[in-house]
Amino acid sequence: MLRLGGNAVDAAIAASFTLSVTDPFSCGVGGGGFMVVYAPPSDARPAVEAVLNYRETAPGALGPDFYPSLDRTDASRIGGAAVGVPGTVRGLEAAHQRWGTLPWPTLLAPAIEAAQQGVAVNEAWCAAARWLGEARSDQPHLARCSEWIWKHLCGSGTLQPGDVVRQPEQARLLRRIAGRGADFFYTGEVARDIALAAQAAGGVMQIEDIEGYSTQDLAPLVADEIFGRYRLLTMPPPSSGGVAEIQVLRMLWRRWGDLHDPGPDDPAYLHLLASAMQQAFADRARWLADGTFAPVPVSHLLSDAHVQAAADRIDPDRALEPVDAHVLPPPDDAGTSHLSVVDADGMAVACTETINTLWGSCVAVEPWGIVLNNEMDDFTTNPGGSNAFGLRQSDRNAPEPGKRPLSSMSPTIVLEGDEVRLVAGASGGPRIISATIKAIVDVLIFGMTPEEALAVGRVHQQWSPDVLWLEQGRFDESVHADLRSRGWDVRERTGMGAEQLLEVLPDGSMLPASDPRKGGAPAGVRSVTTAD
Ligand code: GLY
Repeated sequence: MLRLGGNAVDAAIAASFTLSVTDPFSCGVGGGGFMVVYAPPSDARPAVEAVLNYRETAPGALGPDFYPSLDRTDASRIGGAAVGVPGTVRGLEAAHQRWGTLPWPTLLAPAIEAAQQGVAVNEAWCAAARWLGEARSDQPHLARCSEWIWKHLCGSGTLQPGDVVRQPEQARLLRRIAGRGADFFYTGEVARDIALAAQAAGGVMQIEDIEGYSTQDLAPLVADEIFGRYRLLTMPPPSSGGVAEIQVLRMLWRRWGDLHDPGPDDPAYLHLLASAMQQAFADRARWLADGTFAPVPVSHLLSDAHVQAAADRIDPDRALEPVDAHVLPPPDDAGTSHLSVVDADGMAVACTETINTLWGSCVAVEPWGIVLNNEMDDFTTNPGGSNAFGLRQSDRNAPEPGKRPLSSMSPTIVLEGDEVRLVAGASGGPRIISATIKAIVDVLIFGMTPEEALAVGRVHQQWSPDVLWLEQGRFDESVHADLRSRGWDVRERTGMGAEQLLEVLPDGSMLPASDPRKGGAPAGVRSVTTAD
């Protein structure tokens, strides 16, 4: 798209539609997302600082008592009752109307071609197929719901890396969307087929829910003076990621002086980082939700007084007292996909999209070949309990008709003056937040290239369960021992997020990096500077 003369938004839209075909286990037109857009001021227009919210919404029949009243405890994760009204197609159309420059059909052409000609599947796709095979063997309800996906997108369990999967049904859908716009998806036969697919799998979605879907233009969450010099543009609620990121970065900065010659593996730094995350995730659990439905005190949570009090609570030698002994390991990285784009004029897009966990609800809309999300599990569906990611959340995040569930997706653009410095974001549920924070610090403070920043180990602390996770095999035993001696319940795990990071250097050259943990690679239209 950039080669055709399009801008960063055009490229992001085309990439997003293509991801619906190449990563149907992670994201796609059956899901939703967030997009953060920046363009520097020019003679033609003032700076653009904007976010689009095209997160899925709860169907009209979903209230706070819906899930507790059902027999099945997995109803918000598997099957039709897990499905939120998809937002991606409306969201991408809204982005095109506001900022796009290329014709809409041009943006869909690569996705249509990929769906029609087929995609050679990679290891991430095969791993997703293996996961589904295992889940089907001991979950009869999931096995019934996922029949179409299993046959058409997993080769009934035979899929090997390099095998080609064609998606003629999705190609037909995308061709019609290219010709008639998002209305084709949100009205008529597609809306009917989505509602019928959800209902046939135990859901309550109605055609009217789909017809009534709209995106939200929100003011971006902006934080100045990050590390004394950077401006951060990120996602406000219903993302929890933007608030948590800013809180943690500010807490770090306030206590940075406590560290003696800090480095990325320094246990004192990792302790400070974990302590800051713990407090930000405690705020997430208590306060965060869709701000258009519940009061979310964002200004208070980001105020100097609140952040200073949290920073002051951090004891350099000891983990804060455990607030919760509940231990439920979150599952490995699952659904969700992030893309970071910068064009030659300095316009940038950070875009994170998801169908939630692997293969979403496991329900497909068969005539159109798409996988429906299970985003309803990001609501507080089980008061007092936790969701698929082990996250505990408050009543503010209870389901209500038309409401959007709380998210950890954290698309972020870092500016220095008017220039883009970094575009960041990840997949990985709550590990999105910790991976993105660590990548930002590793590049901006420790001076790593994006490639180096994505290669080093990650840490994650999400308040509940009260565990400090270190990425498996990435830290010396001395680091583990030091953190244990400070009182942390240290455990190792894989699945610590997959980050897509793009740094723009002062001379305008770009250093892009795609997380080696998920098999991606950066793409560009001119040679990029790579690390020595
Ligand atoms: N579905 C994961 C998230 O939005 O955080």
